[in-house]
Amino acid sequence: GLTLILARSGMEVPVADDRSVLQALRDAGCSVSTSCEQGVCGMCETRVLAGEVDHRDMLLTDAERARNNVMMVCVSRARTATLTLDL
Ligand code: FES
Repeated sequence: GLTLILARSGMEVPVADDRSVLQALRDAGCSVSTSCEQGVCGMCETRVLAGEVDHRDMLLTDAERARNNVMMVCVSRARTATLTLDL
């Protein structure tokens, strides 16, 4: 499974296969502003410091996806075992 590393606190947050990154962050007490929660609005955009994002939003361009420095945590996941987020 995926583990999130929160760079500012050093906290490690596991993401169960049936939970979103957003849900895992909230379970861990991290507040993330959201609106659509469907990968459309961009409100939950979060900076990614390490790890490879599996982008599942409908917002980022191919070039932005390739840059791999932000993700929509409401829908996107990871291709790597860990993702380090600027949280
Ligand atoms: Fe709208 Fe994530 S809350 S893209």
